[in-house]
Amino acid sequence: MAMNFGNDNGILAGIDVGTSKICCSIAQVNEDQATLKLLGIGLSESTSMKNGTLINRDTVLEEMEKAISEAETMAGVKVDQVCLGISGDHIRGINTQGAIPLNSIDPTREQDRPINQEDIDKAIEFAKAIQIPAERDILHILPQEYILDTLRGIENPLGMTGRRLEARVHLVTVAHSAAANLTRCAEDLGLTVDGIVFQGLASALTTLTKDEKTLGVALVDIGAGTCDVTVYADGGVRHTGVVPYGADLITNDIAVMLQIGVGDAENIKRKYASAKASMSSPKLTFDLPGDPGSIPRSISEHELSRYVQARVEELLHMVFREIQRADKAEKLTYGVVLTGGGANLKNIAPLTEEVLGM
Ligand SMILES: Nc1ncnc2c1ncn2[C@@H]1O[C@H](COP(=O)(O)OP(=O)(O)OP(=O)(O)O)[C@@H](O)[C@H]1O
Ligand SMILES: [Mg+2]
Repeated sequence: MAMNFGNDNGILAGIDVGTSKICCSIAQVNEDQATLKLLGIGLSESTSMKNGTLINRDTVLEEMEKAISEAETMAGVKVDQVCLGISGDHIRGINTQGAIPLNSIDPTREQDRPINQEDIDKAIEFAKAIQIPAERDILHILPQEYILDTLRGIENPLGMTGRRLEARVHLVTVAHSAAANLTRCAEDLGLTVDGIVFQGLASALTTLTKDEKTLGVALVDIGAGTCDVTVYADGGVRHTGVVPYGADLITNDIAVMLQIGVGDAENIKRKYASAKASMSSPKLTFDLPGDPGSIPRSISEHELSRYVQARVEELLHMVFREIQRADKAEKLTYGVVLTGGGANLKNIAPLTEEVLGM
């Protein structure tokens, strides 16, 4: 993958435009052409995205510029090409297949012709040729397995022989406007866009092991405004989807419930909230922030967590519905891997096991 990206000097840059933060990382492709050396990272707060949708172009340009220039200063290089991460509930995953006959030109030939790259590309091309609404683009074509006559589960059919080659693929599609608007932002900053990656896939590639992907796992990236879901089974991606809500829901609930500002609610969430109320103590209380002169208020961690648990359960139910769309829930030997900032919520792992039954 590294070889497809980057400029002539082997410099790669990636930008994740998230709901709570925008981050940019710059890396150098090592001589082996397979590994990377991280040169710099930069961060900016994000006020321009809501549930994966760009809501303010002006501010996103400033915020992207800040993250990029911070990363450039650390790396000591200027970037001219970037790869962008994208999320939002306009992301859709579809499983399709395409098949081609082999050796059809001369069926009397004694020796079967080995499958070449052109055959594989052609089978994938057929798999891609499905009706997609005009306002959508194909973002990723992810081969799952090849089927050669009756032999299933083939990872790479190159050099094998048979009469019929079928490619099973997972397509990730995006709303054209969402991808185009993000691309234009980078272009307005003088950058060339090398590619766009579904954020949930990027998280899976950095987080999951090969065993997890083979034996089946659901990767859930709990962000501030979205939960990105990527389901792997038998080594390939079986489903991708986005729940258009994230961990900021919990913060907003705390702010409304305790009648405090969002900043204070965020601090309280990180410090005192537990995703499982039964694992927090009714005896441990903390003071609520208030205006000078107002009556002091306090609440127990347990009480706070009761509300938090209800909201997290709701979020996890939506995630579960998305995972079930993979139709592989029973085969996810490795269960669920949680990542993203929301995965830091105390006791979210045991609650996830309970709600998802994995
Ligand atoms: N220690 C913590 N405890 C609880 N929640 C946390 C903690 N740290 C971060 N979070 C939450 O994680 C969320 C931010 O996660 P992340 O940085 O992955 O989001 P993002 O990538 O900006 O958003 P998105 O992916 O939805 O666009 C916020 O809602 C934040 O409150
Ligand atoms: Mg994110």
